[in-house]
Amino acid sequence: MTQRLVHDAPLSQADPAVAALVEAELRRQRDGLELIASENFTSRAVLEAMGSCLTNKYAEGYPGKRYYGGCEVVDQVEQLAIDRVKQIYDVAHANVQPHSGVQANFCAYMALIRPGDTLLGMSLPHGGHLSHGTSVSHTGQVWKAHAYGVRPETGLMDYDQIREIAKQTRPQLIVTGGSAYARIIDFAAFRSIADEVGAFLVVDMAHFAGLVAGGVHPSPIPHAHVTTSTTHKTLRGPRGGLILCHAEHAKAVDKSVFPGGQGGPLEHVIAGKAVAFGEALTADFKRYAAAVVANAQALAAALMERGYAIVSGGTDTHLMLVDLRAKQLTGKEAEKVLGAAGITVNKNTIPDDPQSPFVTSGIRVGTPALTTRGMGTGEMLRIAELIDTALTGRDADTLARVKQDVEALAAGFPLYSSYAMAGGAR
Ligand SMILES: Cc1ncc(COP(=O)(O)O)c(C=O)c1O
Repeated sequence: MTQRLVHDAPLSQADPAVAALVEAELRRQRDGLELIASENFTSRAVLEAMGSCLTNKYAEGYPGKRYYGGCEVVDQVEQLAIDRVKQIYDVAHANVQPHSGVQANFCAYMALIRPGDTLLGMSLPHGGHLSHGTSVSHTGQVWKAHAYGVRPETGLMDYDQIREIAKQTRPQLIVTGGSAYARIIDFAAFRSIADEVGAFLVVDMAHFAGLVAGGVHPSPIPHAHVTTSTTHKTLRGPRGGLILCHAEHAKAVDKSVFPGGQGGPLEHVIAGKAVAFGEALTADFKRYAAAVVANAQALAAALMERGYAIVSGGTDTHLMLVDLRAKQLTGKEAEKVLGAAGITVNKNTIPDDPQSPFVTSGIRVGTPALTTRGMGTGEMLRIAELIDTALTGRDADTLARVKQDVEALAAGFPLYSSYAMAGGAR
C-alpha cells in the first residue's frame, strides 16, 4: 500500500529534493536573460508531452514494424511526428528517433560511409561541432577526419579554399553546418564540391533548423544527401535529434539508427517533437523565426556601436560571435562576469584564437530563447547596454545593479506563467 501511495504521489511529495531543484531551475530561467545560442524555451505543450506516460513504452523498430506489442498508440505518435516534419521541410523521408544531435550525426555518417573512410568537416575552433570529426569525438576516431575553416581575416567560409582541401584530402563524406557560424552557408557550393570529389554531403542544420522551418533561411534539403538536426535549438522542441533524407537513403538511415545506433526510441520525446513540429507549421512560428533574426541583427549592431567586434561583421542568423580582444577580456572572464549579472552566454573560440578552448577570446550570443519570451529589437538595444555595463564595470556593485535591471527586464516577459511546476510554484 505504501509503495502504491509513493508511486502515485506528485514529485513535490515523493521527492522534495528533486522538486526543489526543478523549481530553482525554473526560477533561474525566469529571472535571467538566456542568450545561449543553442538554447530555447519549449512550449508548455511540449513539456507536457515529454512528461507523459509515453516514457514507459518500449517500441524498438518503426511504426507498423515493432519488436514489442502494445505499440498501436505510440505508432500514431511517431507517425504524426514523421508526417509533420516531412511537411515542414518538404522531404521524402524522416527518422525522428535519434536521441540527440551527436547520435543523429553518427548514425547519418554510418549510413553513408564505412569505418576507416575519410570525412571532411568544419574545424571546431572555426565554428564547427565536436561531432564533425574532432579527435576527441568518436567521429574523429572511427573516420580519418580532416577539417576546413573560415578565413580568419573575414570570418567567412572560402568555398575555393574548401574545394582545394577536399581535392587534397579526397573525403567520402563532407559535413557542413556549425555551432558558431553566423552566416548563411552556400549549400549548392558544398554539393558541387562533394560531387567533384565523389563524396556524400551531410548538412547538420542543428542551429538553424527553426529558421529554415520559419522560411527565413535557405533549406539544405535539396542539396544534401542527408540532413541532420537537433530539435531543441531554434526549432524549439524537446532535446533530441532527427535525420532527413531523400528516398534512396531512407533504408540505410533507418537501419543505422535502429538497430545500428540505438535501442528503444524515446516515444515521450518523440511526442514532444510532434508537438513542436505542429507549432513550427504555424504562421506564428514564421513570425517567430523572422523576429529571431531581426533581434540578432539588432543586438549585433548595438554591440558593434559600443565597440565590440563581431566575427564576420554581423549575422544572417540567430547568433553572433563576439571577439573580445579589443576589450582586453577573455571569453571565460566575460562568461563569468555576465553570469554574475544574470546574463547567460557561453565562451567560444574565435577563428585562430590565441587562447585555449578553456579560456577563448570570444563569446557566442544568440536570440532564440529571448525571442520566445516575446522580446523585440527595443529590448535588444537595452540588453546590449546591460552587457556593456557589466563587462566594462565588472565590480560587485555594478554587477548587482545590472542584475536588478536584468530581473526587471525579464519580469516583463513571463515564462511558463500558467504552468505549475513540481512544487506548485507559479
Ligand atoms: C551543429 C551541431 N550539431 C550537433 C550538436 C549536438 O547536439 P546534442 O547536444 O543534442 O548531441 C550541436 C550541439 O550543440 C550542434 O551545435
